[in-house]
Amino acid sequence: MKPSVILYKTLPDDLQQRLEAHFTVTQVKNLHPDTVQQHAGAFASAVGLLGSSEKVDAALLAKMPALRAASTVSVGYDNFDVEALNARRVLLMHTPAALTETVADTVMALVLSTARRVVEVAERVKAGEWKRSIDADWFGTDVHHKTLGIVGMGRIGMALAQRARFGFNMPILYNARRQHKEAEERFQARYCDLDTLLREADFVCLILPLTEETRHLFGDAQFKQMKPSAIFINAGRGPVVDEQALIAALRSGEIHAAGLDVFEHEPLAVDSPLLTMPNVVALPHIGSATHETRYSMAATAVDNLIAALNGKPEKNCVNPQVM
Ligand code: GLV
Ligand code: GLV
Repeated sequence: MKPSVILYKTLPDDLQQRLEAHFTVTQVKNLHPDTVQQHAGAFASAVGLLGSSEKVDAALLAKMPALRAASTVSVGYDNFDVEALNARRVLLMHTPAALTETVADTVMALVLSTARRVVEVAERVKAGEWKRSIDADWFGTDVHHKTLGIVGMGRIGMALAQRARFGFNMPILYNARRQHKEAEERFQARYCDLDTLLREADFVCLILPLTEETRHLFGDAQFKQMKPSAIFINAGRGPVVDEQALIAALRSGEIHAAGLDVFEHEPLAVDSPLLTMPNVVALPHIGSATHETRYSMAATAVDNLIAALNGKPEKNCVNPQVM
């Protein structure tokens, strides 16, 4: 008999078949307690779990005594209680490489659309406001040759630095837990402490995972240090930023604009002040959302689960020490 797994995401047909070739698959809508209750037998016998975004905590693990591996279709895994997984020796697999270039493209899209006011101006054109000659009221600010600050120099930070340095001639500053020789050699990126980066960067791009150390890393004090002309971009995780402090900084003119793909609470409330500010570009967490990349992430996640349950989680494993 094939081992059983729970799938809480829709997969392309060919990947569903790849999964079914190895496992008996029970597909569910989500991991809410009601759903788990409804499929209690399948959850109790499942050795694997595949999906994204839902909370996986000790309470869920208690309903899954046979679980040996969880595979997420994402790079971020802040929705998993890793300590609880470790205590149960459950492997956690993710997709760190598949989305790098696509997320870096999204960050560049936010940089360009905030600086050049692409969304705002396009809306004005749609509203019939195109004037005979474009005056300063429609002008943006340059991107090329401006200083780009990257907070979090992981894979995505590197791909962003490459675009900015070679595509847009931007000097790069970065802050990370440790110095990154390759970034310095390839992109002449300059390592600096966070305060220096905030004071000097024209664009402050946040690409950090959510952890206990990064939660609310950005608040009043950080926005106050930025230039009034600074543009703030967040494409990591929303709770790394105190969103009320960001709103206040935008309102008071402490910073010039913001491009946001992530928010403290998602989906963003329809009455959020961020949605009425013309200098904010808000995206619905689409950093990796292209056909090509979402397929590649899903394929990686399927292969990760197969490898983990065969005792061979050679790559993409968050906690190989539990083996
Ligand atoms: C997206 O947010 C991811 O973590 O993959
Ligand atoms: C990425 O944004 C995901 O959670 O799939």
